[in-house]
Amino acid sequence: LSLAGGYPDASMRHDERVAVALARAARRPGAWEPTPMMGIPELRGWFAREFGVDQDDVLITPGVQAALSATMRAILPAGSPVLFAVPTYPGALAVARSAGLIPVPVPTDPEGVRTELLERAFAATGARLLYLQPTFANPDGQVLASTRRQEVLALAGKAGAFIIEDDWARWLSHAGPAPPPLIRDDDHGHVITLASLTKTTAPSLRVGAVSARGPVLQRVAAMRMVDDFFMCRPLQEAAVELVTSTHWERQLKAVAATLRDRLHHLIRALATDLPDCGYAKPQGGLSLWLQLPQGSDDSIIAEKALANGVSVLPGRLFSIGEPGHPHLRVAYASLDSSRIAEAVHRLGDAVKLVQSNNDSR
Ligand SMILES: Cc1ncc(COP(=O)(O)O)c(C=O)c1O
Repeated sequence: LSLAGGYPDASMRHDERVAVALARAARRPGAWEPTPMMGIPELRGWFAREFGVDQDDVLITPGVQAALSATMRAILPAGSPVLFAVPTYPGALAVARSAGLIPVPVPTDPEGVRTELLERAFAATGARLLYLQPTFANPDGQVLASTRRQEVLALAGKAGAFIIEDDWARWLSHAGPAPPPLIRDDDHGHVITLASLTKTTAPSLRVGAVSARGPVLQRVAAMRMVDDFFMCRPLQEAAVELVTSTHWERQLKAVAATLRDRLHHLIRALATDLPDCGYAKPQGGLSLWLQLPQGSDDSIIAEKALANGVSVLPGRLFSIGEPGHPHLRVAYASLDSSRIAEAVHRLGDAVKLVQSNNDSR
């Protein structure tokens, strides 16, 4: 029983539509010729309209992960500090570390990154980059409060720093439209926004985009060229077909409804089996950040849960250095509602077992 999956499961997808779009794209004349380095114009245009930027400010990439890697390497030399609002996405930490960068944590609360601590972190480290997920962050599903958006932009401006806005969950709102991307409020070219279609179409439809104003986009594009020249054309054309079809809006609504329903079942099950574990209700995205009883070990609990047949990720993967209060990331995108109660019951047994072992020591 997976409470660990980072992508919507097959029951939430329309793989047959992806297959048809891809088959058509693969047979078009010139399908397998080299494509423009920045991506095909139709797809750049679609992302540009979604972000609220110019088409020229968009580069197509194979998902967010590749975009993160190219962007971090394009901006900073090895050995530089990078600020991360924590808890954070382990894949972004892995990118930073593999590029020889030094991740520095900046704590968040349910309203997003704590700006007084962000100001101190910029001053103490001289960092020129902040990694942030303002909308439906992985792991806690929270949104940067509207009152903090301008402050975060001003602090980055004062520090002469870029902000990587990882907007991976833009189309995973549980109700109503997501807040606009931070790049729309940025008049000075500090924000670089990354987004992806892998979560809403299929994990293997590796299509995403980077948006940035000014010369930095050309630096990212140059890094992408070093990595693999350009993006597969049939994938890009299939993506255009999917996002411009009349079905797209309906599909997003269906995904939102399923996520809402699964979260509802998860919250009900937590109230029954883990009533002492706190959390802030996610506003979007795929996971809930569950606070464990003080003194418990998240890794041991995740191991015991696995032995009980439930996979879940220990919170320490989402932190930098010494983890603070222990947490688990409980994902609800890869398990049907009908099985969530059973999974949480087994998880609850693992938590209780570890607690009783602790008490008897
Ligand atoms: C916060 C975040 N960013 C980026 C990614 C990478 O997504 P992809 O490369 O599939 O677009 C993920 C995947 O789980 C994620 O959770």
